Amino acid sequence: MKRVSSHVSLASEAEINLDLSRLIIDRPQRFTLERKRSFDEQSWSELSHSHSHRNNDGFDSVLQSPAFPSGGFDSPFSTGTHFGGGGPHPLVNEAWEALRKSVVYFREQPVGTIAAVDHASEEVLNYDQVFVRDFVPSALAFLMNNETDIVKNFLLKTLHLQSSEKMVDRFKLGAGAMPASFKVDRNKNRNTETLVADFGESAIGRVAPVDSGFWWIILLRAYTKYTGDVSLSESPDCQKCMRLILNLCLSEGFDTFPTLLCTDGCSMIDRRMGIYGYPIEIQALFYMALRCALQMLKPEGEGKDFIEKIGQRLHALTYHMRNYFWLDFHQLNNIYRYKTEEYSHTAVNKFNVIPDSIPDWVFDFMPCRGGYFLGNVSPAMMDFRWFALGNCITIVSSLATPEQSVAIMDLIEEKWDELVGEMPLKICYPALENHEWRIITGCDPKNTRWSYHNGGSWPVLLWLLTAACIKTGRPQMAKRAIELAESRLLKDGWPEYYDGKLGRFVGKQARKFQTWSIAGYLVARMMLEDPSTLMMISMEEDRPMKPTMRRSASWNA
Ligand code: GLC
Repeated sequence: MKRVSSHVSLASEAEINLDLSRLIIDRPQRFTLERKRSFDEQSWSELSHSHSHRNNDGFDSVLQSPAFPSGGFDSPFSTGTHFGGGGPHPLVNEAWEALRKSVVYFREQPVGTIAAVDHASEEVLNYDQVFVRDFVPSALAFLMNNETDIVKNFLLKTLHLQSSEKMVDRFKLGAGAMPASFKVDRNKNRNTETLVADFGESAIGRVAPVDSGFWWIILLRAYTKYTGDVSLSESPDCQKCMRLILNLCLSEGFDTFPTLLCTDGCSMIDRRMGIYGYPIEIQALFYMALRCALQMLKPEGEGKDFIEKIGQRLHALTYHMRNYFWLDFHQLNNIYRYKTEEYSHTAVNKFNVIPDSIPDWVFDFMPCRGGYFLGNVSPAMMDFRWFALGNCITIVSSLATPEQSVAIMDLIEEKWDELVGEMPLKICYPALENHEWRIITGCDPKNTRWSYHNGGSWPVLLWLLTAACIKTGRPQMAKRAIELAESRLLKDGWPEYYDGKLGRFVGKQARKFQTWSIAGYLVARMMLEDPSTLMMISMEEDRPMKPTMRRSASWNA
């Protein structure tokens, strides 16, 4: 089969007139996107799952009637079918049992899931808490199983925690900050229970979690989309919570870019790893949260102003990300030939990136077919590392154009050994080593090469990979990844992460029975069995927005 370059070249707005309408990927036709030489030359029907694709008309409006009327499900996932045949996979029941053991109750109501139920580990650290980001896959699993109360309770409890006093020494955090985690404090003498939140004041490095607020908005939309219950998102409390979160990101400052400036350790990678600046994980979640909020904010009162600001920001953010963060073979070659010290508006090398700063590995890594969003872009700095979460979210949220989404998946296929190896999925690639590790991580002994956040493999990322696979019409690729995970996860006791270039070793300090490893697996499996569940988390290509890409001449070659 002929190899096809999927490079997407950059274009000025004047050059743009591609009709993308036939490439819209968030409709049922999304499964028919053109693909070449992929694992997925087998068709969807070969997966022979029993669920028909529901027609998701009104896909991108959270206020439309629910695609899943309550009671419409007969909880197919509690039992699980092995991709439609052969009865339940033994892992599914085990996973549900383990997930249920992680449920945290507050005044007899389920409010979240604990990060890890690892009785063997002597150190609990903060793994006895409910983390906002960790709860997302749990929440999706519960929603898909028609257990919606725990998700609603979680959203309401964290909303109330937002208004707790947040101090780091004598400094008060912004009103919109959402907690990284919370726990239930039980006073046995008084027989009382209180929720205690951590906004970063006790986290390593005292960093506030920028991703928490975004995940909260994304989860609120998933809940609304799934249940069809708009009363929660329309309640004054939820409207205010969203506005406070957005206020932190949309207020004017000294910014020259529409991306969000962040400090290191403010997201899933919550230790120093050289992601300060404009990390892809935060930019992709920011974009997705803005689009979710746009669907849920009411235009009355203060909402109107926010809706306007979001629209302007999305326009600028989309342009910036699709142009300056995108890297493929063609763009790498452009950067390699960049001139420096260019002034004026006509500068091509807008951030004055010095070509000598391109790391050697990227020339070998970059296939002719495929591309990805860079880890970070700021003045004279491009982080060429590939990050899994950010890239998957760009696909799911449609921040990536349809061509870019295809290219991201092509790259994962081309670089399967490096990025998936024996355990899906590397958190980032490649690892920092030696001098670079010393300088960038501050000699962090937990983040040594190919371990933990530094090139470790995280089973939780399986659900995001699966969502991206389904959206781009590559179910076989997701199936292959899920089967890899299945061969190890239960046997190894659901570790938090794996180590090594191929992800073969259970992580040095990995917790066992890590809840998001369990939930991530369940969500991945459920999504593959019923791809229409993707609608909870997926955004449609934003048609009114001007596409900023044109097809390269080699597209049809
Ligand atoms: C680690 C991870 C973080 C996660 C937490 C709880 O700190 O880096 O992303 O939320 O553990 O699982």
